[in-house]
Amino acid sequence: MATRVAVAGAAGRMGQTVCAAVQGAPDLELTGRVDPALGTTLADALQRADVLVDFTVPDTVVDNARRAVAAGVHVVIGTTGFDPEELQGLSGANIFVAPNFAIGAVLMMQFAAEAARHMARAEIIELHHDRKLDKPSGTAARTAALMTASRGPQAGEIPVHSVRLPGLVAHHEVILGDVGQTLTIRHDSTDRESFMPGVLLAVRRVASLPESPVVGLERLLDAA
Ligand SMILES: NC(=O)c1ccc[n+]([C@@H]2O[C@H](COP(=O)([O-])OP(=O)(O)OC[C@H]3O[C@@H](n4cnc5c(N)ncnc54)[C@H](O)[C@@H]3O)[C@@H](O)[C@H]2O)c1
Repeated sequence: MATRVAVAGAAGRMGQTVCAAVQGAPDLELTGRVDPALGTTLADALQRADVLVDFTVPDTVVDNARRAVAAGVHVVIGTTGFDPEELQGLSGANIFVAPNFAIGAVLMMQFAAEAARHMARAEIIELHHDRKLDKPSGTAARTAALMTASRGPQAGEIPVHSVRLPGLVAHHEVILGDVGQTLTIRHDSTDRESFMPGVLLAVRRVASLPESPVVGLERLLDAA
């Protein structure tokens, strides 16, 4: 039987792409498009969904997740700009969160964390389209956190610089510097399709997570 998927933020840039990806997957069925812009409600959609995918806004994402798990519906969150710690303790179904669902961005984070152990200083530049609400990006914040965890907090903060311009999608550059050399690790999402394999993987896996919430696409890739 197909997994029934509802999408919150269905009228948005990511939501529309996710709806199309779910419709294109033979093992998934799109059963709800939730968005105030469409006049549809979460309560209705939760009645006929196994998984809720959330690409909405920072103000609403935690409340959406709380209501979904209370209804026994698993949640896959792509929304950024909130603290995933706020999801601790929510029970009734599983929650999976990733600040970036693109495989290349996950690899960038892993390479950057490794490099941070060996080079003296680092800064991150994140560049996004000018309609993005949060700053710095969730990906940049998580990359900085992983790098800090890898090299130890005594090495100091990793500054993040944000650029917002039309024409951009989602781009991250980690620049590491040491005596007489720099190393640059860069990832570009040039199309929102880049996030879809990761989103669908999370939709298929969220019901069988070993704990909840789980943060980071690497947690699913390493278990694959
Ligand atoms: N994790 C990732 O890989 C990834 C990738 C790209 C974007 N994002 C994040 O996804 C989020 C959405 O990005 P976007 O570019 O699609 O934004 P967007 O502004 O195009 O879409 C957001 C949509 O959410 C809707 N919305 C607002 N409140 C809602 C509610 N209570 N219930 C349902 N829908 C509601 C809005 O009407 C809008 O249609 C942002 O936080 C962005 O940073 C994450």
